[in-house]
Amino acid sequence: MNIKPNVTVITGAFWGDEGKGRAAFYECQDAYMCLRATGGNNAGHTIVYNDKKYAHHLLPSAIIRENVICCIGPGVVIDPEVLIEEIHKLKEAGIKITPDNLIISDRAHVIFPYHKYLDSLHESLKTDKVGTTGRGIGPCYADKCNRIGIRMKDIKDHQNYILDLPDNEHLISDEHLINKLILPVQYHNAKFKAFNKSYYPVFVDAMHDLCTNYANELGIYIKDLQPVINDALEKGKKIVVEGAQAFGLDIDHGDYPFVTSSNPNTCGTLSGIGIGPKYVKEVIGVCKAYCSRVGEGPFPTEQCNEIGDVIRELGHEYGTTTGRPRRCGWLDLSMINRSKYVNGYTCLCVNHLDTIGLIGQQLGEIKIKIDDNDDVLDTFSGGWDTAGCTTYDELPLAAKNFIESIENLTGLPVKYIGIGADNKDTIIR
Ligand code: IMP
Ligand code: MG
Repeated sequence: MNIKPNVTVITGAFWGDEGKGRAAFYECQDAYMCLRATGGNNAGHTIVYNDKKYAHHLLPSAIIRENVICCIGPGVVIDPEVLIEEIHKLKEAGIKITPDNLIISDRAHVIFPYHKYLDSLHESLKTDKVGTTGRGIGPCYADKCNRIGIRMKDIKDHQNYILDLPDNEHLISDEHLINKLILPVQYHNAKFKAFNKSYYPVFVDAMHDLCTNYANELGIYIKDLQPVINDALEKGKKIVVEGAQAFGLDIDHGDYPFVTSSNPNTCGTLSGIGIGPKYVKEVIGVCKAYCSRVGEGPFPTEQCNEIGDVIRELGHEYGTTTGRPRRCGWLDLSMINRSKYVNGYTCLCVNHLDTIGLIGQQLGEIKIKIDDNDDVLDTFSGGWDTAGCTTYDELPLAAKNFIESIENLTGLPVKYIGIGADNKDTIIR
């Protein structure tokens, strides 16, 4: 059978916070499924819809749309405490969340409190700080690679044990989980002891109790995700993969060691969910009309001056996850021109075209870096106001020139433009 590719992948071109969540949410208006594939609650995706603002860390953006199946893939590391809270909050706000519209892959790994502690221990030992969000992401991925991690499958098995389900395929006992917990507990306790000033004992009993709570709260959503995806692919249904983090934070392609611990590039994102490249129809590279970075590491166009302050204030550039003020600077097209090969963008989404217009009005000019050479900056004088625009044609000429310069200098079509935080402030080209 000839299957029509119908997967849209959304990945970030800079260092995160480009507005991938809002792009994914927009794309999901006619989607069947929305999937998170990499990272964990180090991500913060903001969506403004029907005058309400939502900030998600783990749930795919489209969970607030009815009728979109939202999934958390095998490549994600899940802090169950955060996920449970996110589900409760949305339910309280009247959002329907059931096993029909939320699936957690049984292959995803679990973040425990000690992973967060390890994050801060590692950071405290480093001279070159990463600026981690401290959410335990790296240590959880390390346990996964060391093959001592606890997976959502273990939580599901524990739920089956608690419920004493008669249809258990294999006999599951409490020992099953306890035996799995012993190794990571022993291993990390030894490490904590070695740095005795930071001694932080981890107990199997305490972890077992956490698992019981996680099983009770999340067990119903956990299952093998692959058959669900296979079925959607077979039927050519539209699937949106909501990338997290970005190219500059990719552990292989980003600014190592100032990176996250996953591969948030397009292929890593597809792998994190379990979809091969032949099903991909569109890869949307998301960027902003300026750059920002939170955490340490290189940032060639950073403005540690009044310009940076103006960008931060007009763009409200404070972390969704940590509240940290973001480092801000001019748009760096060399990031797009490098990442376009790795990520294979078919088009771009440029967010904050409204903000850069206001920045130009306030500062008198806007700059963009056009290649790897630091000196090559293009200047646009003045700014613009995009208020009230609903189509590309209605945008001020200077704003259109800015967008068309991005197209000319990257060779990529700009198909989506953000002129405000609200979902309806999206212009399609
Ligand atoms: P970690 O992944 O929490 O360990 O953080 C590693 C680096 O990636 C730090 O510089 C973080 O600030 C950055 N980072 C991780 N996730 C995100 C994100 O979703 N947006 C922006 N920066 C992120
Ligand atoms: Mg973010």
